[in-house]
Amino acid sequence: MKTNDQLDPNIFVIFGGAGDLTWRKLMPALFDLSQSHSIPAHFAIIAVDRVELSDDKLRKRLLEGVRKFARSGKTAAKEWTEFSRHVHYLQGDFKSNATYKELGGQCDNLEKEWGAKAQRIFYMATPPSLFGEIPSFLAHAGLAADRERARIVIEKPIGYDLDSAQALNRILAGGFQESQIFRIDHYLGKETVQNILAFRFANPLFEPIWNRRYVDYVTITVAEEVGVEHRGGYYDGAGALRDMVQNHLLQLLCLVAMEPMVSFDADEIRNKKVDVLHAVRAIPHDAVHRSTVRGQYGKGWSGGKKTRAYREEEGVPPDSQTETFAALRLFVDNWRWQDVPFYLRTGKRLPRQVSEVAIQFRGVPHQAFPTEATLDWQPARLVISIQPDEGIVLRFQAKHPGPKMVLQPVDMRFSYRESFDTPSPEAYVTLLWDVINDDATLFMRADQVEAAWRLLMPVLDVWKASPPSDFPNYAGGAWGPDATQGLLVQQGHSWPAPVELAGCPQPK
Ligand code: BG6
Repeated sequence: MKTNDQLDPNIFVIFGGAGDLTWRKLMPALFDLSQSHSIPAHFAIIAVDRVELSDDKLRKRLLEGVRKFARSGKTAAKEWTEFSRHVHYLQGDFKSNATYKELGGQCDNLEKEWGAKAQRIFYMATPPSLFGEIPSFLAHAGLAADRERARIVIEKPIGYDLDSAQALNRILAGGFQESQIFRIDHYLGKETVQNILAFRFANPLFEPIWNRRYVDYVTITVAEEVGVEHRGGYYDGAGALRDMVQNHLLQLLCLVAMEPMVSFDADEIRNKKVDVLHAVRAIPHDAVHRSTVRGQYGKGWSGGKKTRAYREEEGVPPDSQTETFAALRLFVDNWRWQDVPFYLRTGKRLPRQVSEVAIQFRGVPHQAFPTEATLDWQPARLVISIQPDEGIVLRFQAKHPGPKMVLQPVDMRFSYRESFDTPSPEAYVTLLWDVINDDATLFMRADQVEAAWRLLMPVLDVWKASPPSDFPNYAGGAWGPDATQGLLVQQGHSWPAPVELAGCPQPK
């Protein structure tokens, strides 16, 4: 194993160590970290789960996941053998004190063996129903007591609504200090999402026009081509608003709309983000139907193949009222953004996978060019392409070559693939590295999670009180229900066609 001798000894405990998240995301990310010298010399992974498994059997299973999902997973067996020696299995009931006693004993033994105190990371990769229990058992067993070295990592969903999120935050706060709690939103680990800060605040060029004077409106799209896949059971109890908007889309909104940070300090950045959520204009109950659109996919087509309706998916009731598509119009009430609409949309079974933020600038104050010069004219637009293409496109007007003055929009493109020879790391690699290094910048604080729930509560309440009568209301493979256009058309706005960066030349 390639190690980093500068890092403190580390014990990485995964509750749900035999589960899907560990297999698909955590272990491949930890393995990738080990291959880039980002793992401490003294390092152990303790996978805790209920099923009966030996160390060897677990390692064999984890290797499959690493081969499939890790960037360096096709690596020689030697690297895996070295790495897997650090992986141990602890069978135990998550709700039994004995499990935590045993775990504490194993941690103590490792520290004795290493002759040093270790950072202890407790990662909850379990079903959300256990989120409230495990932290209390850990605290009860004294495993949270070292405020400097013990950390807990929790995956979304953080609650189901404002009340349950507050209750969960209270439980976490009962055993851990806020500085010990790392709430994951994997979008924040994406390279292109982090680049929003770099782009905005490392280039003074854009900041002066990043406001209501120059920006007409902003769209944030997170579209998925896939349906609900094998997660129908979970998803049907959540829906698009809880599953995607409450976390990923609002995080993007915060990064696009926040004020410049004063320093690159975790709390400074998180303060600036939470300010945005506090400034979002509350949606009155009687305006919810005008400001939002919900949808559910019916039968359709994807990649030339017929696809099932949501109600026919595994684990989904045939009369489900759960939305698989959500769109909202929000306003950020502050000096910078007053009256600039932010349109958010997300959905499953849309025509293609694409996540992007488009900043639509205003037109020129006075059009001096002759009418025939401006037939193709469009106001400038900046598109931050998050995935699958990674980059930024600035669309502006240029003179078309020829004797006449004819204006035509052209694109200036920055593509990660073209500009850098290192591929972007998987979000979990970045996030786990930050957990190991005790850097909370990319993690959600309790107040931020609660502010996000607070602003969505009127929508959740009204949607619940008035079940949709038209579901399914979009065919699989369409851009959501027709009403989605209506959200923008009233203002003379439109959803931009997704940009393509794929044509950019490959790096040399
Ligand atoms: C998860 C949601 O948080 O994000 C999933 O629960 C969704 O429903 C996924 O598919 C999308 O993530 P990504 O990184 O593929 O855009």
